[in-house]
Amino acid sequence: MTGDTRQTVAVMGSGTMGSGIAATFARHGFQTRLYDVQAEQLEKAKDAFAFVCKTLIGGGFMTEADAETARANLTYTLDLNEALAGVDFVAETVPEKLEIKQAVFKQVEPLVSDEVIIASNTSGIPITTLAEVCQRPNRVIGMHWSNPPHLIPVIEVIRGRQTDDATTETTKQVVERLGMIPAVVDKDVPGFVENRILYAIMREALHLLDEGVASAEAIDTIAKWGIGYKLAVIGPLELLDVAGLDIYTSVAAYLNPDLSCETGVSATVADKVAAGKLGIKTQGGLFDYTPERIQELQQQRGKLLLASKKALTQA
Ligand SMILES: NC(=O)c1ccc[n+]([C@@H]2O[C@H](COP(=O)([O-])OP(=O)(O)OC[C@H]3O[C@@H](n4cnc5c(N)ncnc54)[C@H](O)[C@@H]3O)[C@@H](O)[C@H]2O)c1
Repeated sequence: MTGDTRQTVAVMGSGTMGSGIAATFARHGFQTRLYDVQAEQLEKAKDAFAFVCKTLIGGGFMTEADAETARANLTYTLDLNEALAGVDFVAETVPEKLEIKQAVFKQVEPLVSDEVIIASNTSGIPITTLAEVCQRPNRVIGMHWSNPPHLIPVIEVIRGRQTDDATTETTKQVVERLGMIPAVVDKDVPGFVENRILYAIMREALHLLDEGVASAEAIDTIAKWGIGYKLAVIGPLELLDVAGLDIYTSVAAYLNPDLSCETGVSATVADKVAAGKLGIKTQGGLFDYTPERIQELQQQRGKLLLASKKALTQA
């Protein structure tokens, strides 16, 4: 699957991620078939496509004409055979449950030709485990997008124990064709790289909140405008070199033993969950929300992410 711009992709699952992933394939010239087992999910995906286009056009990353071309490249189907007929690449993004993913893998493999790559968007289930049900585990790989998938530039490309070099190379090329940045994860560990780092940050942020060290607002402000702002420009490992490994050694000697090593869930989160406060989906979690605030946050997030991407890529 190299060079040619007419390739066909099946995106399996049209939820939060699948709808944005399909829109991204379609807008980069792939004939894209979005498959789901629920008709209402496919209907929602059509609204999601319109939202993706509106955001990208608003940010100057897409024209109305591009949106029309993308719309023409994207078809929606409940028919598995129709979704998979003659495809060159499969992007799986069904719920994060091993049995559902493995059932999809078992359905897909006999319906596609031997060279077709099956790429999973799992957030952290080892690729090697997913591929256990496959006849061709060498063609199975992780292709982990971040949410919102049409906006976050990096995609982790995770090698299972049996994933071969050709599969890895082709998947990297597909990511590049999508205008995204591929980063290869060589070892198939739970959570891969992105979620391990993110969960380490969230564990410490929740620990600070539980301990009353600072308010939720203050913790988020420091993380966004201190750490996040800096990390968009310099990675944590390069930052260590810039700060000096001797300084790190001195600070880590007293700080590391004091950091959270909680293996369970924070007390604050446990209490909120018990009270049915799950975040924006229940209009309340660690913060309180009105429906207007939720809409504003979603629109503002897209706008700010695109503005930062423009600033970072044009600098
Ligand atoms: N939501 C996120 O922020 C996020 C970020 C990165 C990765 N992921 C991963 O992406 C995957 C999908 O997550 P999501 O949030 O989009 O889930 P979701 O629940 O929003 O969507 C899953 C979709 O899969 C469909 N589905 C269920 N069984 C199916 C089957 N057998 N065949 C085809 N479709 C089927 C469902 O109807 C639903 O539309 C998960 O592995 C998740 O861990 C999610």
